[in-house]
Amino acid sequence: MAKRSNRAHRLPHIISKLPELKRVIAELRAEKTKKQKKTIALVPTMGALHEGHLSLIRLARRRADTVVVSIFVNPAQFAPHEDFGSYPRTFEADLAALGAERVDLVWAPSVETMYPAGFATKIVPEGPAQAGLEDAFRAHFFTGVATVVAKLLIQCEPDIAIFGEKDYQQLKVITRLACDLDLKTRIVGAPIVREPSGLALSSRNVYLTLHERAAAPLLHGVLTDCAKRIASGEPVAAVLERGRSTISLAGFALDYLEARHADTLAPVASAADGPIRLLVAARIGKTRLIDNLAA
Ligand code: PAJ
Repeated sequence: MAKRSNRAHRLPHIISKLPELKRVIAELRAEKTKKQKKTIALVPTMGALHEGHLSLIRLARRRADTVVVSIFVNPAQFAPHEDFGSYPRTFEADLAALGAERVDLVWAPSVETMYPAGFATKIVPEGPAQAGLEDAFRAHFFTGVATVVAKLLIQCEPDIAIFGEKDYQQLKVITRLACDLDLKTRIVGAPIVREPSGLALSSRNVYLTLHERAAAPLLHGVLTDCAKRIASGEPVAAVLERGRSTISLAGFALDYLEARHADTLAPVASAADGPIRLLVAARIGKTRLIDNLAA
């Protein structure tokens, strides 16, 4: 049996300057298979890649001829007190992983390339970006995300762009943005990749101490329990109350545990209001964890 680790890996083409990106994207867009134009998929990331990111890349590989991965730790989506300075940066390991996935192009601009002197435009999303979830705790987060993602989509001109359901509200905000700005890119969501314990993979999990890592899967356990109770007809408000106290009693500082309409993110009172998505954010020690589940 062939060993996966013995596969010959080629490093992807790394581009860090805009004129080269524009030239290469124009060349790719002109390429054709026998009958039709080749398609491009973009997977935007902030690096520190894990199996969750790689699952998005594998989906991109199946859906398009060319796979572009962007790596950019976007200062605009971090508040001054947040972890921009200490956010894990593992560029060499990321490139090796991307080579193994046969990624064609890595777009890795500097902060100065993305936000040159004089940069003065922001995209301020409303609708799903004002649902009272992440936005209630990270005031400028979605403005930073929307602005950088709009730039990435304009720069890379992909046919599809893939985002994880791990950041469920972000996926909704970006889907709305692509539609509202008449971008030709189709936004595709991908399922959450978890550890066997149920903990959703995240670049920030490296911040967890051993003790915190052992406690962290509780969030997924609570989501699963809430989903079961709602499915069996228990009232949503009571189920959430119980879930909230379980999380707090386990030593987390809870930001929110909410049941929302899976498409609009509007609050829901019962399963009759439409498909429900349960969303949670809680802090343990210095780490903030988010997760979500269909109910
Ligand atoms: P980042 O946190 O690096 O995540 C990049 C993509 O990977 C996002 O679409 C995210 O939802 C997805 N992802 C992360 N963990 C996942 C998991 N366990 N399972 C499945 N997908 C997962 O999200 C961002 O970067 C940034 O906000 C970005 C969109 C790149 C804009 O700067």
